[in-house]
Amino acid sequence: MPYIKSSFVQKLLDRVDIVDVISSRVKLKRSGSNSFTCCCPFHSEKTPSFSVHQGRQFFNCFGCHKAGNAINFIQEYDHVPFYEAIEIVAEMANMEVEYEHGKGTIQNQFQKKNYTEIMEATVRLYEQELFKHKEALEYLNNRGITRETVVKYHIGFAPDNWNFIRDSIAKNNINLQNTLKELGLVNEGQGGRIYDVFRNRLIIPIRDKRGRTVAFGGRVLDSSKPKYINTKESPIYKKGYELFNLDYVRKLGKDEYNYVLVTEGYMDVIALDQYGIHNAVASLGTATTTEQINILLKQTDHIKFCYDGDAAGRKAAWHVLENSLSEVEDDKVFSFCFLPIEHDPDSYVRTYGVDKLREEFDKASSLVDYISSELASRYNLSEISERIRLLNEAAIIASKIPDDAIATKEALKNEIARIAYTSKDEVNIIFNGKKAQSSQEKEVQDLTRNLVNAKREVTKYQWLIAQMVRNPHFYAQIPNPDELMLLLKKYSPERIEVLERILNTIKSKQDITTGSLLLVFQEEPKVINFINYLISLKEESLSNDFNIKVVDLLQNIKDLLLEALSNRNEQLMAKSRQNQQLTHEEMVEYDFLCKKIHELSA
Ligand code: CTP
Ligand code: MN
Repeated sequence: MPYIKSSFVQKLLDRVDIVDVISSRVKLKRSGSNSFTCCCPFHSEKTPSFSVHQGRQFFNCFGCHKAGNAINFIQEYDHVPFYEAIEIVAEMANMEVEYEHGKGTIQNQFQKKNYTEIMEATVRLYEQELFKHKEALEYLNNRGITRETVVKYHIGFAPDNWNFIRDSIAKNNINLQNTLKELGLVNEGQGGRIYDVFRNRLIIPIRDKRGRTVAFGGRVLDSSKPKYINTKESPIYKKGYELFNLDYVRKLGKDEYNYVLVTEGYMDVIALDQYGIHNAVASLGTATTTEQINILLKQTDHIKFCYDGDAAGRKAAWHVLENSLSEVEDDKVFSFCFLPIEHDPDSYVRTYGVDKLREEFDKASSLVDYISSELASRYNLSEISERIRLLNEAAIIASKIPDDAIATKEALKNEIARIAYTSKDEVNIIFNGKKAQSSQEKEVQDLTRNLVNAKREVTKYQWLIAQMVRNPHFYAQIPNPDELMLLLKKYSPERIEVLERILNTIKSKQDITTGSLLLVFQEEPKVINFINYLISLKEESLSNDFNIKVVDLLQNIKDLLLEALSNRNEQLMAKSRQNQQLTHEEMVEYDFLCKKIHELSA
């Protein structure tokens, strides 16, 4: 959580009402004294499986298993990172965000509004300028860019003037000149002279996902170098987090596209849009980052990367592949499309037309096919030593794919075994040699896998996690929670770190809501996803009205403990039955277990 005080986040969640926050985006219908419902905004459905629990300050969907607190809702709905969602919710609640000392101030908020106004004024200035410059209009005309496109993308022109923006916006105003500098619109030269960054260039505004202009790209009209310059990173622009055109793609209906296309250049996106392909975005002068991929996955289940077929394009694609590995999931698709050498989407569509281009897009390789064909091309597969090197490289790639992407990993193993002329068993051995995982990650993975494999039959342990998250207020009624944890830690066959952290959090704040409780796991998406999934299961045993009786909870705890203790007890008994002497400690332990088991079964 960059810069924002975590105590503030808690305060914010205590203050806002999730029902108000969600109602600002979708229309809710009351479904109980404390709950509301509507059709899920995160997947398409006809009967509502989305619920908002006012008492718990929590929402969840029984269909797509999205769940969380008020901030998480805004994150998902507005497609913004956590800290930005905090700012949005704080604004709704009329609260000033509290930043960590020295890392941002309230003034920041104020500044931010100022930035937006200056950026919008700059867009207008460049736009007006375009129509005064024949050479710029001619350039656009030669590239076949229509007036409609110019208007839609607010394309402008920066005149060949060192002081155009400086003087139009901040003449004789040092404060404003400083702001222009922060925004990357002017530079400061030797002797403190301030001058415009963009001169004699076509201007393409770069907007963030909410449509606010955060940066500019400027292209020369001729073949001079550098071809493009872009505004540097600024308080409102981090290039690895923004995607050109994402704001327009987000406005499309979900049925208007099957995937989001990622191209290398913004002129590609603009040309495609003019040809009726509206679902394209561009990364901004760098290889698409993991963060950008994450942002896109909130928008679509299929990302199609499009590159030139030349060496540079292949290299860029491989880099992007590496950035996507950690985000791979079995129900998400990444595909890779390579255009013929010398073509980018812009030049291709102009030369061959949109239908031919769509055919190229249809020929894209899947992630697994792309990895294996790329690796196959790098090694001389008639040599054993080269095949081994290939296997090792494949193992490193596979180790970056999360283990819960079971199907993708299996497909990759099959492909690798095939191209390396070896068996899948051998591939397995090599792949398994490359692994490192925290024990909590392992726990979540095991739990998730059990859930999936057992067709969602919930174990007692999973049930307990779900119910404690749903009903933190029951904590007060657990007879001896500290002892419970101690015993489970010692005797439960399952790892119990997740439950332990949940109980400890409730212990420190007994009136905590479900929504706030999950803040502990905010930075651990895997744990959060697992818990959200679990508490959004519709199984009998997890009755979806969220309300259970405390006696059921206590019974479950008893059963869970009994199971754990009896297990150990039986181990000890078996040992003594085989005429092996129990040590003194084991005798004491045995007595203790018998006593506890007796207590619990009473
Ligand atoms: N780029 C950049 N600086 C450069 C060259 C390129 O920032 N000197 C970035 C721009 O974001 C550009 C992208 O890389 O959109 C792709 O570059 P390139 O393929 O060279 O440009 P095109 O998009 O094909 O531009 P054009 O068609 O106008 O030549
Ligand atoms: Mn181009």
